Amino acid sequence: MKTLRDLDVQDKKVLVRVDFNVPMDDKGEVSDDLRIRMVLPTLDYLLEQKARVILCTHMGRPKGQRVEQYSLAPVAAHLAKLLGKPVPLAPDCIGPEVEKMVENVASGGLLMLENLRFHPEEEKNDAGFSKKLAALAEVYVNDAFAVSHRAHASVVGVTTHFADKVPGFLLQKEIDYFHRAFDEPQRPLVALVGGAKVSGKLEALENMLDKVDRLILGGAMANTFLKSQGHDVGASKVEDELLDTARTLLHKAAEKKVKVYLPVDVVAADRFAPDAVHKAVTIQDIPAGWMALDIGPASVLCFKEVLADAKTIVWNGPMGAFEMDAFARGTMAMAHEVAAAHALSVTGGGDSNAAIEQSGEAGNISYMSTGGGAFLMLMEGKELPGIKALQ
Ligand code: 3PG
Repeated sequence: MKTLRDLDVQDKKVLVRVDFNVPMDDKGEVSDDLRIRMVLPTLDYLLEQKARVILCTHMGRPKGQRVEQYSLAPVAAHLAKLLGKPVPLAPDCIGPEVEKMVENVASGGLLMLENLRFHPEEEKNDAGFSKKLAALAEVYVNDAFAVSHRAHASVVGVTTHFADKVPGFLLQKEIDYFHRAFDEPQRPLVALVGGAKVSGKLEALENMLDKVDRLILGGAMANTFLKSQGHDVGASKVEDELLDTARTLLHKAAEKKVKVYLPVDVVAADRFAPDAVHKAVTIQDIPAGWMALDIGPASVLCFKEVLADAKTIVWNGPMGAFEMDAFARGTMAMAHEVAAAHALSVTGGGDSNAAIEQSGEAGNISYMSTGGGAFLMLMEGKELPGIKALQ
């Protein structure tokens, strides 16, 4: 694949697809700018090379309509602060007014287009919409790893119109780290998988059995595995329809000699609330009607042992309901352990990243992926449509 450095972008209009789908706070300001900061190397490079940068992104799920709440105005303002230069925002992403604004972008200047998903054609990968978007520029850069699992117009359709289409530095970095962690890992490779549901991660778990040496399961999804092994998990969240699947997965893991570690104790609570009555109990002793909301201290010690000699760690999904202080300890402890390990550590998914930020360990993780669904799709062993489209 050609890279950005192979192209002469001076004075050229470069359409840069980014994923600035970032969380906002109550005041309508960006509350977590990881996805924006990670694209700065690409933007700095293009601006230094005197390209004319046309930035485009989606934000939220406005369902093909103009919804002010999803306007990119706060994002443009945030980026302007980070870049130290103005980031004008076009009123739309296609159309005559936008075309005029694009023509006025100077070499070394930039323009941000309004939310691509204000047009239903974006998510439909519509050919006409792709063509109009592509007509705005001469070169295409995909630096939107986090949306590269979506075959949308600005990610896939648009690429058919460009001879020069390359990954940005972030997309390259994401692919490189994932490759180092999953395809050519230093062993032992340990995966730490948590989160709410087994269902969303089934394919990823299946695929991981061919890659990892050890698999640690935590979070609510571990309940389904525990129940499949005959444990009474009380009122814990369980996907009963997946009990057989969970059992089969554990069998397959044994056949493939992948060691699986489930919690040996949990923090159980009488209800799902920050002020619930709660206590640490072994998984044999979850009181009737109570639910597991975090891994317990013995599990933390056990998982710590499992991680101790790891050379590569991949982490996706929290160990419990960490958004509530009473149930954050397990996830925070794992963040500290992953950060302290002498291993290449790669994490992905909004919740895992938020947990790592909360633990204060972000600086001690080798790589925090900006992808959620895209990261998971790589874990499933699949090719991302947005990356394929560049080849
Ligand atoms: C994400 O946040 O995972 C990406 O921006 C993709 O968003 P989507 O799930 O709405 O397509």
